[in-house]
Amino acid sequence: MNVINILFGSQSGNAQNLAHVIGEALENCGISSQVIDMGEIDPESITEMKFVLVVTSTYGDGEPPDNASEWMSYLKFQDKIDLSHLHYSVLSLGDSYYPHFCQCGKDFDQYLSKHGGHLLVSRLDCDLYYEEQYQVWLEALIKVLKNKLQG
Ligand SMILES: Cc1cc2nc3c(=O)[nH]c(=O)nc-3n(C[C@H](O)[C@H](O)[C@H](O)COP(=O)(O)O)c2cc1C
Repeated sequence: MNVINILFGSQSGNAQNLAHVIGEALENCGISSQVIDMGEIDPESITEMKFVLVVTSTYGDGEPPDNASEWMSYLKFQDKIDLSHLHYSVLSLGDSYYPHFCQCGKDFDQYLSKHGGHLLVSRLDCDLYYEEQYQVWLEALIKVLKNKLQG
């Protein structure tokens, strides 16, 4: 059975919480998911995943949170990663007060695409208040996933 891997990068818990909320929403629609701390799993394991949602915040000056930095380096610097089997989307949490708004999510999106990954739905960059956009993104995601998982 296909499982949606929800990978979170989080420094102070917001993205981690949201990853679990997304996981519950998917489960409520009959879609199996597992929430994974990026700091607890080898980045190379992405080559064995078919469906991935990256839920991440941005820290420092547009940097990944600590638990996502190894993943970011792997995707940024490794040349030969074949992700042509992968379907993914990214939800980034940030704050437009900072000049590099949601940079970590933007970078993950760029590198996953560069290695051949296919977008499920477009990345959502969330500022401080994002509930409405998030619901629209989630609905679109669930629709696409249901189609893919049935097909
Ligand atoms: C020290 C610090 C640096 C931050 N740097 C950025 C940044 O460069 N870009 C951005 O969009 N948000 C930035 N943020 C905002 C966080 O990404 C945002 O608060 C997010 O919700 C934190 O999620 P987390 O608890 O999962 O880490 C920063 C926050 C802090 C405290």
